[in-house]
Amino acid sequence: MTTELRASRRTLLGGIAATPLAGCIPAGSAIPASPALTQGPSLDALAQGTGRRFGSAISWNTRNRDSGSVQNPLYTELVLAECGIVVPENEMKWQRLRPAPDVYDFKAMDGIVRWARQHGLAMRGHTLLWHRPKWFPKWLNDYDFGANPVREAERLVTEHIRTVAARYRDEISSWDVVNEAIDHDSHGTLETSLSRAMGSPEAVLDLAFHTAREALPGKQLVYNDYMSWEPQHKAHCNDVLRLLEGFRKRGTPVDALGIQSHIEMFAIDPATGVGPYAEREWQRFLDEAVAMGYKLVITEFDVKDKALPGDIGVRDTKVADFTRRYFDLMLDYDELGDILAWGMVDKYNWLQGFAPRDDGLEVRGCPYGSDFEPKPMRNALAASFTAAA
Ligand code: GLA
Repeated sequence: MTTELRASRRTLLGGIAATPLAGCIPAGSAIPASPALTQGPSLDALAQGTGRRFGSAISWNTRNRDSGSVQNPLYTELVLAECGIVVPENEMKWQRLRPAPDVYDFKAMDGIVRWARQHGLAMRGHTLLWHRPKWFPKWLNDYDFGANPVREAERLVTEHIRTVAARYRDEISSWDVVNEAIDHDSHGTLETSLSRAMGSPEAVLDLAFHTAREALPGKQLVYNDYMSWEPQHKAHCNDVLRLLEGFRKRGTPVDALGIQSHIEMFAIDPATGVGPYAEREWQRFLDEAVAMGYKLVITEFDVKDKALPGDIGVRDTKVADFTRRYFDLMLDYDELGDILAWGMVDKYNWLQGFAPRDDGLEVRGCPYGSDFEPKPMRNALAASFTAAA
């Protein structure tokens, strides 16, 4: 579907606004028949005005339609109305694609790709290698690499990347080749069964990017990580810069830095009234990354609101304000390309489980509430894109 078509479909849908419901929908209450879309251009259309695309994560969930999945008609309606690009939440990870060393299971990933193609949505690839034992399939953590471990580890990595790349290369132009390769505590690169077999984490990461370059000619190859503008992320930002420097020194073909952007309001800064953020240091970090020739992608945007008061009005305003500041800063970088949210609707967002609030209230970190109503955060994104156009 072209943007124009999507925009006109969206305006149509906007007319059938659902009954507004305050806050989250308790279990058992009626769910709206249609998302309450704001009139006017979609977030993707606004992002396109700045030369970028806007999109979201989406999942494949045949067991539970009440999820941020392709199987949920309400969710897909919203995604189709607001997004120009989607990314699979988990369906491209080794844990999902590789149930056993010699088995690939493409069913869920194929399903998302088919759906995106049917609706004219672009896709991002996430991820060819999440280089972290916690996210390896168990068989890979326990793997016996045999008499020639280097060769066997190389075979596993290259075969996986070539197989997945060959299957989806025509559909996907930007790929998170490696996700989160740094150990937060030791500040070095993470060891895994693959890196122990190959001699170093860098050997695995370089091989992954070289293999991807060969298998995905002309596509954007991304290193994706969770460094962020909150002051507590400073050390991780430095570690990422050293990793990026190493890629350049060794001639590793990495085109862009994926900035996950799970931004966090962990306290209120009395000076600004929103969560503390180290703006200057963050700009220095981005400046260094782009000076090395890296493009930027916002790959997983949402906001952790754990430290904010429960009052929904106050909370939403502060989250929106934080969002606006973040995007105003980010959109100043010509090197920034696609912008993706990690889900569009609060109740389906991973933060409900990962960073629950102490008061037990729902985390409100997405552009739309659980009632499928746009929140001030949605308006903040729209305002920021409009201002940058
Ligand atoms: C990281 C990963 C994502 C996702 C989120 C949590 O940011 O890159 O794929 O798993 O954690 O949902």
